[in-house]
Amino acid sequence: MGNCSFGSAKCANASSSSHSGNSLHGSNISRKRNPINAAGSFSSFENDSTSPSVSLKSFTLNDLKSATKNFRSDSYLGEGGFGVVFKGWIDENSCAPTKPGVGMVVAIKRLRQESFQGHKEWLTEVTYMGQLCHKNLVKLIGYCSESNNKLLVYEYMHKGSLDNHLFKRGSQPLSWAMRVNIAIDVAHGLSFLHSLDTQVIYRDLKASNILIDSEFNAKLSDFGLARNGPTGDMTHVSTRVVGTHGYAAPEYIATGHLSVKSDIYSFGVVLLELLSGRLALHDGRGAMKDTLVDWAMPFLKDRRRMLRIMDTRLEGRYSKKGAYAMAALAMKCLHSDLKVRPNIGEVLVALEQLRLPVKEAAARQICSPG
Ligand SMILES: Nc1ncnc2c1ncn2[C@@H]1O[C@H](COP(=O)(O)OP(=O)(O)OP(=O)(O)O)[C@@H](O)[C@H]1O
Ligand SMILES: [Mg+2]
Repeated sequence: MGNCSFGSAKCANASSSSHSGNSLHGSNISRKRNPINAAGSFSSFENDSTSPSVSLKSFTLNDLKSATKNFRSDSYLGEGGFGVVFKGWIDENSCAPTKPGVGMVVAIKRLRQESFQGHKEWLTEVTYMGQLCHKNLVKLIGYCSESNNKLLVYEYMHKGSLDNHLFKRGSQPLSWAMRVNIAIDVAHGLSFLHSLDTQVIYRDLKASNILIDSEFNAKLSDFGLARNGPTGDMTHVSTRVVGTHGYAAPEYIATGHLSVKSDIYSFGVVLLELLSGRLALHDGRGAMKDTLVDWAMPFLKDRRRMLRIMDTRLEGRYSKKGAYAMAALAMKCLHSDLKVRPNIGEVLVALEQLRLPVKEAAARQICSPG
């Protein structure tokens, strides 16, 4: 990453490469990442000379075709604004493609070729994830770059994304204790990014970018929109507004001023999703107003009515005290005054108090896995 310093968090060095393309991608405004408006200029790495880190494995397209049975539909895991995600198998040591069931399972994200903006995001992802490692960030194992074919190979997250658990019909509801733990994991991931020598603003925090492993640990994925935070006395960086409706902070949408407090706002939205089991953005059905924040705010402000936002799938099995505390924290994170929004350290302190000792959680029957 050029001259950025990641201090002790630095995992590997980047060398150099160039990249171009600046058109916008995506048109599904309700659930997928979207440019919120097209003002200003994208500037994630515009001053940095950068290329994939040496610690990442470089795959050929043929490797990844073999690992996914030629991107066959039965390897399909999901799809987002960037492209389609497939399940694949590689050897743990050599990273050579293997047969399904042999070696290590990975998730392979294939960039939709027509997406110019996606090429930029691919490079941003490779650059950040080649240098950052933390237990609450999804590990990028490698990449493929063969002319217009751009792919990313990640550790496989067995339980998929948080949105599937919270919103998908038929999924097993998450217990209260699991929701608290997920919030804490996400806050740890953000805390890592915000505490680096050169702060990193994640910029795309949302339930679909929070992935869950087999032990229900949560990790942040998708660093395509991440960018370095302000330096010196600056409180924000000015940037084109990108992100996802329903999660992006209002002052960022209005001014393009991006700060770590923009991530805190999005974190507040995720807390509301964990509390309510409702989508951040109105899906066109039901009585909810445009965004979850608009809908929930009157309830959050009135303690007598606050519990009405709680996810009915919890069936009342949650700590009321904990729910009030999480709601109060969400309100602070969503505050319009950036100075009132807590920093991520304060968020973590508040959340850690909600974590129930395992025995107590078991006694209250709110710690059942799955
Ligand atoms: N590392 C992974 N392990 C397992 N499943 C994954 C992994 N990465 C992505 N997926 C699956 O692929 C789906 C699509 O992910 P993707 O990040 O491309 O899109 P998204 O987050 O839904 O939208 P956006 O483009 O706005 O980020 C996820 O919801 C998840 O189910
Ligand atoms: Mg994503």
